[in-house]
Amino acid sequence: MTKKIAVLPGDGIGTEIVAEAVKVLESLRQDFSLAIEMEHALVGGAAYDAHQHPLPPQTLALAKQADAVLLGAVGGHKWETLEIALRPEKGLLGLRSELGLFSNLRPAILYPQLAAASSLKPEIVSGLDIMIVRELTGDIYFGKPRGVRVLDNGEREGFNTMVYRESEIERIGRSAFAAALRRDRRVCSVDKANVLECTELWREVMTRVAKDYPQVTLSHMYVDNAAMQLVRAPKQFDVMVTGNMFGDILSDCAAMLTGSIGMLPSASLDANGKGMYEPIHGSAPDIAGKGIANPLATILSVAMMLRYSLDEPALATRIEIAVNTVLDQGLRTGDIYTPGTKKVGTAQMGDAVVQALRNI
Ligand code: IPM
Ligand code: MG
Repeated sequence: MTKKIAVLPGDGIGTEIVAEAVKVLESLRQDFSLAIEMEHALVGGAAYDAHQHPLPPQTLALAKQADAVLLGAVGGHKWETLEIALRPEKGLLGLRSELGLFSNLRPAILYPQLAAASSLKPEIVSGLDIMIVRELTGDIYFGKPRGVRVLDNGEREGFNTMVYRESEIERIGRSAFAAALRRDRRVCSVDKANVLECTELWREVMTRVAKDYPQVTLSHMYVDNAAMQLVRAPKQFDVMVTGNMFGDILSDCAAMLTGSIGMLPSASLDANGKGMYEPIHGSAPDIAGKGIANPLATILSVAMMLRYSLDEPALATRIEIAVNTVLDQGLRTGDIYTPGTKKVGTAQMGDAVVQALRNI
């Protein structure tokens, strides 16, 4: 049966990198008989400009009907003065929450060809393979009450709420343990249980859930230490599981270990394996429209889509091999360029991956 993919490029470099991922999907459709159809829709600032809302009803409906969603990035200077509820980011957060995409898998893998592009010494990062499992629909991102209020003395006070239910902690815990069973069977749960009650509960529930996975070893770490350990000795980690806010921060940190945030894909899954796939980087307004953004994170997100939502693991592996091939060929976008390699633009990189797919 033909699977439907909703394609939501978003803003900034989102449109450029998604165009390359679409080339890859097109090639899989034509050359490898992958039964898919793609439909594009607006999200983020682009949707606001056209429909005065970052997540118009037709985009949400398309995403809900689709078997999988491919998303680029949202946001840009142009929309920064809008009220928070209408900002491009709300389009992304709305999709995550409306589709129930609570489990965000963010693998941080160092491609050996890029060891020199990491800001850390090669011996610290070589062989790095971490899976960050970030809870994506709860925490301070969605917690209520939230807002800015005026106090009796006329001073304004901003407030947000960090909140997690046991059931939310339990289900993201199960995602992490399941991921660990396919890997090195170690889970490190990251919290701030020494200060925050909410994450004290997090730690308690994780410990309880771990009992159902006797093959997996659970450890706990405070988030400040985890940030330090990620840059000190990142290879100690296999799976890291954490809340929405800590996961946002730690995954950017882990990304840099791999040389560039332009290399990291992600999958955001619901309880049934339906997913939205996006690079973890943002819309990079500073380089948008120049044709120099790295499309590999988005192309690798397509590989995750094939693996987690479309049940095509062989094609997923094929994309990953193709990415390795172009890196072996020495092709680099500006963010991963080091002297001695060949600098290419976004479209050239996408074309090279498509070529490599055919030649494998
Ligand atoms: C991410 C991004 C988003 C987040 C922004 C764009 C809302 O930073 O996916 O990590 O904070 O989750
Ligand atoms: Mg982020």
